[in-house]
Amino acid sequence: MWKKVQQFYIHISEHLPDYCDMISNRGERYAKAGLANGYLRSRTLFSKENKSGLVSFGNAENFLMQDVLLEYVRTKAAPALDNASLTYDEGPFGPERLRAAMAKLLNTYFHPVRPVSADHILFTSGVTSLNSIVALTLTDPGDGILLGQPIYGAFNGDLQVPSGCQLIYTPFHEDDPFSEQAVSRYEKTFLEARDQNGVPIRALLICNPHNPLGRCYPRKTLEALMQFCQKYQVHLTSDEIYGLSVYDDFSSGFVSVLSIDPVPLGVDPSLIHVLYGMSKDFAAAGLRLGCLISQNQRLMQAALSISRFHWPSHVSISIATTILDDHEFIKVFLRDSRALLRSHSDFAVRALEEAGIPYSPGANAGLFLWIDLSKCLDINIANTQDEWVAETQLSKQLQTAGVEMSSGQAYHNEAPGWFRVIFSMEMDTLKEGLSRLVTIYLIFNQH
Ligand SMILES: Cc1ncc(COP(=O)(O)O)c(C=O)c1O
Repeated sequence: MWKKVQQFYIHISEHLPDYCDMISNRGERYAKAGLANGYLRSRTLFSKENKSGLVSFGNAENFLMQDVLLEYVRTKAAPALDNASLTYDEGPFGPERLRAAMAKLLNTYFHPVRPVSADHILFTSGVTSLNSIVALTLTDPGDGILLGQPIYGAFNGDLQVPSGCQLIYTPFHEDDPFSEQAVSRYEKTFLEARDQNGVPIRALLICNPHNPLGRCYPRKTLEALMQFCQKYQVHLTSDEIYGLSVYDDFSSGFVSVLSIDPVPLGVDPSLIHVLYGMSKDFAAAGLRLGCLISQNQRLMQAALSISRFHWPSHVSISIATTILDDHEFIKVFLRDSRALLRSHSDFAVRALEEAGIPYSPGANAGLFLWIDLSKCLDINIANTQDEWVAETQLSKQLQTAGVEMSSGQAYHNEAPGWFRVIFSMEMDTLKEGLSRLVTIYLIFNQH
């Protein structure tokens, strides 16, 4: 259907150019941003029946647990649907029962310093919506939101396009982005933006566990980030959508900012906001459910208003409530999910190491590994144009070889040539994708 719309648009733009100008500047901005373009391409994916199809390491989804969840939805959640699911019910921001069930989950697994209650939670149709809502409510056009490099690429469009804010990215150079020293890097970027470029920064957005690095922030770093936010009176939004997909503890497990008491640190609790959702840890991106947890009354009131435009389906809400109320199911589901993520991550790491492909070390959470293919960049393109053009070229070559991956440029990586491998998929698909990747890598690095 969208192909037809596109064809029609191209047709009228060729024949009746005036028609195409009849949208607002805002509309033009959205049209140019092409935020849904990734879903317009038609491609045939790898499967048992079609072994020549593309292996997509594009979207980060937990395909490993989908069958388990689907069976649960069919047998337990669907029979619990009632008439309320077909009504407006309690409105756009999630019924009390869902919010209470989510509060219980957070109180059990995120160890909040003060118990989260249903009143501190607001649901919308996904964390994507909430990121746009947070940008809309915390910034005016031209204001800045601070982020680290690299970071989840879609933040760019999700935050900037609706609100007109600017995203200000922090390079860490040789510093570890999860260390306390990283905070002074944020501060440097903040001060440059404010004092040299006149950009008032309103918020710091972190992703914990981190996408794409797959690491968790240590408690000390989170405390230092909270104090940095207090010092300059900026909000801290922590996107914790991968919070329960920690598959190996190593030295640092997941610490939610909810579990850190801001008061003894001298931090105003109304500056701290958390985003969570069903898409990753519960393998249910299609339910389209995300929530904001905040004690900032004004922010919540603004978000409540905007939630009207991001109203989740009450069918999804009913399904999620059944899941979240079933604590025994959740325990087993999360245990099995972690075990599978662990074994698939181990498999991917082994394949990368055998081929000599470098990757960002220390990942213990999320669904991906951040790998360094800079040795595959075309030197001629890098010299005559630039290394980011060479990265785009490499991305196309990988696609031609049958592997699709998010690239470093989209994720604001500091150096070109990095890509994100997803390992949370069926073993046959993972093996095939990695084998294509390794083949390309070895061809490019023969001498
Ligand atoms: C860090 C992060 N936030 C948000 C999202 C999107 O979440 P949702 O499916 O709830 O819109 C993603 C999906 O990849 C993500 O990685």
